[in-house]
Amino acid sequence: MANQKVKLFWEGRNDNPPTSFGSMGPVAVSRIYPHPVNPDNSLWLEEPIRPYGDPQNRMFHGDNLRVMNHLLQNGYESQFNLIYIDPPYLSNQKYMSRIAIGDKDHSQSVERQVFSDVGPRELDVFLQDLFERLEMMKILLNENGSLFVHLDWHVSHYVKILLDEIFGPEALINEIVWCYGGGTGTKRHFHRKHDLILWYAKGPDYTFNPQYRPYSPGTVERGLTRVKGDRYRLHSQGALMQDWWTDINKILSPTAYENLKFPTQKPLALLERIISAASNPGDLIGDFYAGSATTAQACESGGRTWITCDNSVIAIETAMKRLLKMPARPFTVESCEGQPENAGRLILKPLLVNEFDAADMLLQVGIQSYQPGQEVKPIPWVHYIDFWEIDLNYDGQIFNSDLQVLRTSQRMDGDLPLQITTRLKKPAKPIQIAVRIHDVFGATAVATAQF
Ligand SMILES: C[S@@+](CC[C@H](N)C(=O)[O-])C[C@H]1O[C@@H](n2cnc3c(N)ncnc32)[C@H](O)[C@@H]1O
Repeated sequence: MANQKVKLFWEGRNDNPPTSFGSMGPVAVSRIYPHPVNPDNSLWLEEPIRPYGDPQNRMFHGDNLRVMNHLLQNGYESQFNLIYIDPPYLSNQKYMSRIAIGDKDHSQSVERQVFSDVGPRELDVFLQDLFERLEMMKILLNENGSLFVHLDWHVSHYVKILLDEIFGPEALINEIVWCYGGGTGTKRHFHRKHDLILWYAKGPDYTFNPQYRPYSPGTVERGLTRVKGDRYRLHSQGALMQDWWTDINKILSPTAYENLKFPTQKPLALLERIISAASNPGDLIGDFYAGSATTAQACESGGRTWITCDNSVIAIETAMKRLLKMPARPFTVESCEGQPENAGRLILKPLLVNEFDAADMLLQVGIQSYQPGQEVKPIPWVHYIDFWEIDLNYDGQIFNSDLQVLRTSQRMDGDLPLQITTRLKKPAKPIQIAVRIHDVFGATAVATAQF
């Protein structure tokens, strides 16, 4: 039951914020069918097939308040089994993603702002914003559902009081302390090396699958019986996990395979643990501050359905690329943000069509040139392309991404094919091909060709 006796007060607290924000406005929907193409397989001879129906996994680009409202209006009330969020937490910082582009002759670093986080002077605004969103998350959860809120020392004490009010203090299942290493220079205080993850359950029958950690070498050598008596034996899976986790480190190395150059990116192992513990395969998981989509990747490997949201275009681009590389199951990208003003200019090569056999043909699709929509250094334009996608039968409205052309390596200096050949059924009537590129600034541009 929600706690009515103790409440947090801030200036401008509004307990009855508008519950409906109308429609999300125009939403640009794309359906993504991950078939990553790279220089090693740019002759793509499998016929790309679109599965029937809309993908269940969904990525939203937009403010999460509008997106959650949209979900509530479209049948998602009480549908989520688990929501994990990792919101900004009053750190008073701008979060940048710096990437190196180019090759040895034209190397350059590009810095993109992902998001900015307000400072302590705006605590009141921060709390009102989060309060409204946490209330919506509770409505989205089902009776067995759980919310995990990832915070640090800046605001965890305030947010715990908010969550006590919204869910009831008895709904706090764990305050998880995630400890990590890494250096900092300060000698003015102990190094701040842990985050807090608050786990609240909507009802008493929440999902929990116990997690295990390896026994210490000493315990394995001695066995449990010497200390605890004959009734106790070592568990084959290890010891039951406590609420403090020291075995997963932050992504520290700039060259780590997992490192997507996304500031605040959380380790996959952390999300895998939370998802395995608090949900079951087939469950619906939400992350409304999704960043680089660590949660979505963990859901992919764990067989969960996911819905994510972020209002940063760099986050969406990073997340798409990450899921394409896996490759993930099909998903949608739904944007209520409108086209960015700095869309670039894309020119395609004329399509080249060849006979393959009686039923099929070979189609060559390529990019002639791309001019980013903002001023850039005079290096070859290809370095400004992050990745590109092809819709092999564009209907003029929804972009269906049938093939995606990615660089070979995680690094931006990996080769990017500018032309690919694919096999297609000979169409009965003329069709339109669309190409969409994503540049390193997060802008997209689309061009079409007919045959
Ligand atoms: C701390 S990061 C999340 C990092 C993520 N857990 C990961 O592993 O990559 C917070 C994210 O929330 C997004 N964000 C902040 N306010 C938002 C809002 N009102 N609606 C949607 N996304 C928001 C930011 O753009 C940022 O990508």
